[in-house]
Amino acid sequence: MSEAVRVLVGRADLARRVRELGRAITEDYAGRQPVLLSVLKGGVWFLADLVRAIDLPLEVHFLAISRYGDAEESQGRVQILLDVDVDIAGRDVLLVEDIVDTGLTCRYLLSVLAARDPASLEVCTLLDKAARRIVPLVPRYVGFQCPDRFVIGYGLDDRERYRNLPDLLQVEDLASLRAAAEPLEAPPARA
Ligand code: IMP
Repeated sequence: MSEAVRVLVGRADLARRVRELGRAITEDYAGRQPVLLSVLKGGVWFLADLVRAIDLPLEVHFLAISRYGDAEESQGRVQILLDVDVDIAGRDVLLVEDIVDTGLTCRYLLSVLAARDPASLEVCTLLDKAARRIVPLVPRYVGFQCPDRFVIGYGLDDRERYRNLPDLLQVEDLASLRAAAEPLEAPPARA
């Protein structure tokens, strides 16, 4: 594998943790029919595995957003390109995120969703980069704490690449990753 990256969380650990989160959500929402919302595109890989680990009747809906510059420039304001096509009033809503970094995007989305009067509104994130948080935001469910490093794979991208890698990789050297002529291959499975 390229020296520009190293494995942060391998696929076996991802699968194990996703199963644990699914079990916790199944217990916490027992007797209810939660609405899971995912933000295109990065959260989709995690969501797809997570819903298969939840043993409840549930719904899945998607949002698509575009940012005005990066999260800090835009203060988290995003344009909603695709809105949820269901009325969430009175519903138990779980926002499923790939990563909460500064927290600005997530806080903005929560404020938009809260205004629609859901019965409950919680966040489930695969990765929590808590060290970079600008706004106070504590997700109810966290897969892994994430170091203050750029991460790719399992849905996370750099300029739309690497979402298909089955492991989460920590980027050690972004410039050489981008300069590399060879595609970054999926590293071999780790136990
Ligand atoms: P925020 O800073 O919490 O608003 O995060 C905004 C978005 O930045 C996340 O939903 C991700 O799409 C993206 N992001 C933050 N950190 C990373 C990373 O390490 N790799 C890939 N995308 C990231």
